[in-house]
Amino acid sequence: MSKRVYVSKAAAVATVTVAALALITVIGMIIFHNIRTKECPHLLQTTFPPTTTSTPTGPPPDMRLPGDLIPESYKIYLQTHLYLNMTGIENQNFDFTGNSTVKFKCVNATNTIYIHSKGLDLTLIGVADEKGKEMATHQVQLVEDERNFVTIELVDSLRVDGLYYLSTAFKGQGFHQSGLSVAHYTGEKNEERFLVFSQMEPSDARRVFPCFDEPAMKAIFNITIIHRKGSIALSNMPQKDQVEMDIDGEEWLITEFHPTKKMSTYVLSFIVFNFESKETNYGSYTLKTWARPEVVSAGLVDYAHSITGNILDFFEEYTGIKYPLGKLDQVGIQGFEARGMENWGLIMYSEGILTYNEEVFTTTEKGIAAIVIAHEVAHQWFGNLVTMKWWNDLWLKEGFSTYMSYLAMDRVEPGGNMKDLISVQEIQATLGMEVLVAEQHLTTKEEDIQSKSDINSLYNIIIYNKGAVVLRMIAEFLPEGVFQNGVQSYLKANQYSNAETQNLWSHLQMAVDNASFDIAVAEVMDTWTQQSGYPMITINTTSGEVSQEHFSLDTDKEQTNRTWKVPIKTMKSDSEVIELFLLTVEGPVSNPAYLCNENEWILASVNYTGYYRVNYNPENWEKLLQQLETDHRKIPTRSRAQLIDDAFTLARKGKVNRTLPLRITKYLLKDTEFIPWESARKYLENIILMFDRTEVYGTIKAYVRKLVGPLYDHFENFTWNSSIPDSCTAQLNQINAVKLACAIELPKCQKMAADLFEQWRKSPTTNPIHPNLRPTVYCSAIASGGELEWDFAWEMLQTSPINQERERLMEALACTKHVWILNRYMLYALDPDYMQFIDIVPVIGYIAKNVIGHSLAWDFVRSHLNSTKPPKMIGFVLIDLISHRFSTEYELQQIKEIQAQEDGKSYGSDILEKISEKIRSQIKWMEENKQTVSQWFQKEASQGSSPE
Ligand SMILES: *[C@@H]1O[C@H](CO)[C@@H](O)[C@H](O)[C@H]1NC(C)=O
Ligand SMILES: *[C@@H]1O[C@H](CO)[C@@H](O)[C@H](O)[C@H]1NC(C)=O
Ligand SMILES: *[C@@H]1O[C@H](CO)[C@@H](O)[C@H](O)[C@H]1NC(C)=O
Ligand SMILES: *[C@@H]1O[C@H](CO)[C@@H](O)[C@H](O)[C@H]1NC(C)=O
Ligand SMILES: *[C@@H]1O[C@H](CO)[C@@H](O)[C@H](O)[C@H]1NC(C)=O
Ligand SMILES: [Zn+2]
Repeated sequence: MSKRVYVSKAAAVATVTVAALALITVIGMIIFHNIRTKECPHLLQTTFPPTTTSTPTGPPPDMRLPGDLIPESYKIYLQTHLYLNMTGIENQNFDFTGNSTVKFKCVNATNTIYIHSKGLDLTLIGVADEKGKEMATHQVQLVEDERNFVTIELVDSLRVDGLYYLSTAFKGQGFHQSGLSVAHYTGEKNEERFLVFSQMEPSDARRVFPCFDEPAMKAIFNITIIHRKGSIALSNMPQKDQVEMDIDGEEWLITEFHPTKKMSTYVLSFIVFNFESKETNYGSYTLKTWARPEVVSAGLVDYAHSITGNILDFFEEYTGIKYPLGKLDQVGIQGFEARGMENWGLIMYSEGILTYNEEVFTTTEKGIAAIVIAHEVAHQWFGNLVTMKWWNDLWLKEGFSTYMSYLAMDRVEPGGNMKDLISVQEIQATLGMEVLVAEQHLTTKEEDIQSKSDINSLYNIIIYNKGAVVLRMIAEFLPEGVFQNGVQSYLKANQYSNAETQNLWSHLQMAVDNASFDIAVAEVMDTWTQQSGYPMITINTTSGEVSQEHFSLDTDKEQTNRTWKVPIKTMKSDSEVIELFLLTVEGPVSNPAYLCNENEWILASVNYTGYYRVNYNPENWEKLLQQLETDHRKIPTRSRAQLIDDAFTLARKGKVNRTLPLRITKYLLKDTEFIPWESARKYLENIILMFDRTEVYGTIKAYVRKLVGPLYDHFENFTWNSSIPDSCTAQLNQINAVKLACAIELPKCQKMAADLFEQWRKSPTTNPIHPNLRPTVYCSAIASGGELEWDFAWEMLQTSPINQERERLMEALACTKHVWILNRYMLYALDPDYMQFIDIVPVIGYIAKNVIGHSLAWDFVRSHLNSTKPPKMIGFVLIDLISHRFSTEYELQQIKEIQAQEDGKSYGSDILEKISEKIRSQIKWMEENKQTVSQWFQKEASQGSSPE
């Protein structure tokens, strides 16, 4: 499954009245989507629920099936009674009914059958032995217990190695959020439409039919779906047969599918719907991409459809194993909760992931589509073909698919350097996040993961992102091809079966041994998977010594006894050779290869392959700095990004001089690559946020203008013509250039934006602005314009049928510099005639981001905090957003006052305490940095005038 994204707005509104803490997450996610993803749009980040260190409340460790009985195959009849065309929920029929026979083998004599079922109305048809002889039952308990088991006690014991059949009939009362769900959407003529789809992961197949619902209980599934005439039914496998039948005076279709491969229950899948598809036959399989008919006919799934075949091709080659199912369907569903779900042969996505066209969507959105599709296709091997034995090894499928999705990117955008984005999107993001979340290991003990909430808690940044980057670390440390060989043998040995983390390491070890390379894979990797956090390594080029220490932003949390086996790749200025070294102790240990002569520098974690931070002695930092200034291309692009990110983070901890990262940014005058710029942009924007209300802002602005000027010029021809360069990363960097230039009011950027916007205003039916540039151009034109520009954008917001466009406009409207217009915008946002109620959250958030609107938003929130509309929780979420800029004791005091009023109400206190903590760290940063940082900027600004 792909990481979950925000809940739909409608769903969020419905939740407003429900439990408070859940709400924070829901709303937090909406905000995150609307605001944070705008801030760093190409980042594929998702919020993760904060990992809380709660006391264990899970049931006792007996939630697991006993393992005496192993399923071999199922025969399932499933009838969905929903009317796809019916308007009015009251006329609908939300029932599903059916029956199921499971054939299982007894491996340990027992007279009790335990099988999973949840919320089903069950009837026992019977238990029979291989010859069809009925077995007498003694006691039958068909209402599930807290483990979701139903139990059937037999009079006679089941024989070891005997085969048996258990048949039940079931009825589901309505549809749930998972298991079988109903999606409710609007048709072409705005009519109400319905479809039924399944979402089983991690453990909801048991909500559809009784089954041995654990990932290692793989079986063959023979599925027949009975659905209303006029609808289409799909499942994992191709259709085998279809007949029409009259049942109780209504017309039905009975669609039978080919038996599946041996597979886990959590990737079973069904859908009954009325969509259309694009289809391509690739010989060994047919690919169909499904969406609402109007979406398909508008060509919106063409891009997704066209890249999927290439991606699948890549994985067939990489794994050496052909895709085995003969068909792959992928479906885009409005309101689907995750970005994607990898069901074997029937992948489901949130509709937005599958839709793209050049006229409306940005490069960022295109990139997200590609990477999510690659992730789900990767799962067809990593997860579906070879499955983790139990959920404690979830990272085996999620970390792998996250890593693999980047490898596939060259097939999607040849020459686009998309693969390199892993450095900012995964490595940097994870290094930054892991120090903020509660401690968690990549792998967990099997017995510690029992309940569904244990399992759900694993869908987080550690499992996905850290899993991906530690795999990449080892893959890149081994000689070319060795990792791939190991992966191929791991998949081949475990296909149609299950594996544990140690199985992966032993196959990698075999590949390593075959290549006569020397490393103990499991020993090394265990230090990364079985403890949390990561190290900072320090190389001293004078002494030739290297050491490691646990890295944390908070010195109190640093563990002195924690060490890793750290694979280190280094290069030196005068040599083509990449040195490999495995640091296994805390050190310092001496490595003569790390000694540098006077003119030499060393660079570690070459190409950003390590999951750790790197520090050097000051002399080496200076030499690297000089190299960046004289010829930055001698340092690989990804390493430049790392130097920037590490320098800013190490400076924050006082591990390097506080001005070092700023001095490094100076070389960016000559760099036009996306990844280094992206690394710097995040920090520069944060400095602007901290200082934009202070007296030094002028000099900061002057410096950033000087820096971004050449980058802006580099893309200027494209920008003026509202076109984009060829390569994806160049497109992303054009966005950065224009965004940063307009944000610090570079006059030519402002003029470009105003002109393009004016062209649009004069003929609103043809928008001449490239989608990539729209967010910035709208914002800048509205910021430098007046009522006229604002009113036009407001009108476009009211009339645009395109969601993405409306979100851009909603954000841009908050960019005006006129306080009265901002005030009016806030009133409009509260008026149900104009906007949905839930839009108040992003709107206030956007207004707070504008330095002019900041105090306005703050006043608004404080004055409404005790009213019922908007609900208080939204108020807290808004306080969180607004306080991103807070960095004074006075501001902290204001939060404390609110905290005092909330005293005792735990949900409010929790979030307010987090906010206070954040402000305290911002105050601390200001105290430690304000003087040095402002002096540095002053000095820089005074040297040479800034352009224009
Ligand atoms: C499912 O189909 C397979 C292949 O046709 C068959 O061998 C198996 O017995 C079937 N399972 C059941 C429970 O009917
Ligand atoms: C299961 O349902 C199908 C379709 O309604 C029916 O044909 C079949 O006889 C049922 N099987 C059992 C064992 O009741
Ligand atoms: C078989 O079941 C018995 C009783 O539940 C249990 O003690 C034993 O460990 C089981 N053996 C296997 C191989 O699962
Ligand atoms: C839904 O309506 C369309 C046209 O209105 C019709 O062709 C189709 O058969 C209907 N589908 C179902 C399942 O009733
Ligand atoms: C590097 O090693 C030299 C020689 O041992 C030592 O004098 C110096 O302090 C070390 N530098 C750092 C930053 O540890
Ligand atoms: Zn996944």
